[in-house]
Amino acid sequence: GVVLRKKMKKDGKWGRAMEIVKELEEKCGTPTAKLKQVADAMVVEMHAGLASQGGSKLKMLISYVDNLPTGHESGLYYALDLGGTNFRVLRVHLGGLNGGIVNQEFAEVPIPPELMTGAADALFDYIAAELAKFVAQEGQEHELPPGRKRELGFTFSFPVNQTSIASGTLVRWTKGFSIDELVGQDVVTELSRAMKRQNLEMHVSALVNDTVGTLAGGRYTNKDVAAAVILGTGTNAAYVERAQAIPKWHGALPKSGEMVINMEWGNFKSSHLPLTEFDNSLDGDSLNPGEQIFEKLISGMYLGEIVRRALLKMAEEASFFGETVPSKLKVPFILRTPDMSAMHHDTSSDLKVVASKLKDILEITSTSLKTRKVIVEVCNIIATRGSRLAAAGVVAILRKMGKDVAKEGEVQQKTVIAMDGGLYEHYNEYSKCLENTLTELLGEEVSKTVEVIHANDGSGIGAALLAASHSQYL
Ligand code: GLC
Repeated sequence: GVVLRKKMKKDGKWGRAMEIVKELEEKCGTPTAKLKQVADAMVVEMHAGLASQGGSKLKMLISYVDNLPTGHESGLYYALDLGGTNFRVLRVHLGGLNGGIVNQEFAEVPIPPELMTGAADALFDYIAAELAKFVAQEGQEHELPPGRKRELGFTFSFPVNQTSIASGTLVRWTKGFSIDELVGQDVVTELSRAMKRQNLEMHVSALVNDTVGTLAGGRYTNKDVAAAVILGTGTNAAYVERAQAIPKWHGALPKSGEMVINMEWGNFKSSHLPLTEFDNSLDGDSLNPGEQIFEKLISGMYLGEIVRRALLKMAEEASFFGETVPSKLKVPFILRTPDMSAMHHDTSSDLKVVASKLKDILEITSTSLKTRKVIVEVCNIIATRGSRLAAAGVVAILRKMGKDVAKEGEVQQKTVIAMDGGLYEHYNEYSKCLENTLTELLGEEVSKTVEVIHANDGSGIGAALLAASHSQYL
């Protein structure tokens, strides 16, 4: 009797766990029709954001980049890439027409987490010191002609109201950063002051978002690149817009007739988005509640955390990991997206990667294969939702550019989307699903004219290229 009752209880609990997973799957559902609604809603917001400042949750920021690299850029330029968990310093030697990138060196440094939420000077001093170190290590071959300063492209991957190609004020922080005193300040001024404090003679010639840098870097190698998407710690996109289609732009019409727009799509929000209780609680507990809702569904900073929250509920309400709730499972952000990805990609028959991640990260030691399979399924649900929504965003851009339909009797020019970011680069199931979803949404014919390429470190190179084309010595 006792044994049977125990088993029935266990089965009941398993049943409850399965119910939670099933409900999660339903709530995270992204059928084609829903994705089309998401894309439509985004197009509407794109128009609103271009019409007036503050007209939409989509800021549609003007980048002041009205010319993308041509291949003529030449000389030695630097780039500083700040916006994720690491920052990078680059030195790029551009060879001019047909010369391409002659040489490229970089250093990558993790940002101490306390600097992300500390004092402004502390963050910029740290960055400027690393940059100074990088410069100090270079040999004589990098010496510039007398009287000429080194020039830098600054990739700053947060929303910025640009006031020119090389200046702009921080709108607000996103991702894991929060330094109040910098909001509203010109980030180039701050960086320049910090460089002075390091006795580093360098001039910031371009301030760009990582999406804009990636677009520039992508265009340098492929002339059909018209948009860029970042899928990393955060997510965002930039694309080439007709200047005439930007009512809020009151400046002179650029010669090219074009302007790159930094959408800040991470802040997109719509009633069509498939939100769950886990998303709502994650948002409420975040540094920026109510903001970056699209980003919180899609990007690397959050995917693992959503999975953790779902597993925690299963542990609490269905004893999914046994009678006691594993205490590590209660620690926010303990399950990182790279670990989620490793579990999701576990192809071993006994799911030993899942087992080892559970042990190493959550101190959960004995799970059944059945349990581990369910965990993989939870990862799959969350990753699939994120990548399908990202695909809907890409479709919105294509639609805004008029590239989402096949024009009859016309040889359609290729539209290339440059992508970058750790999530896109390393989470294969995610990127595969994104590309499949694009085909699903665009149809076979149109999707033949759309190509997604990986612009490896496009944002750093792109910033250097834009520093070159906006050099003060030209
Ligand atoms: C966040 C930032 C945005 C950046 C993106 C990807 O969404 O607000 O500026 O482009 O992350 O790094």
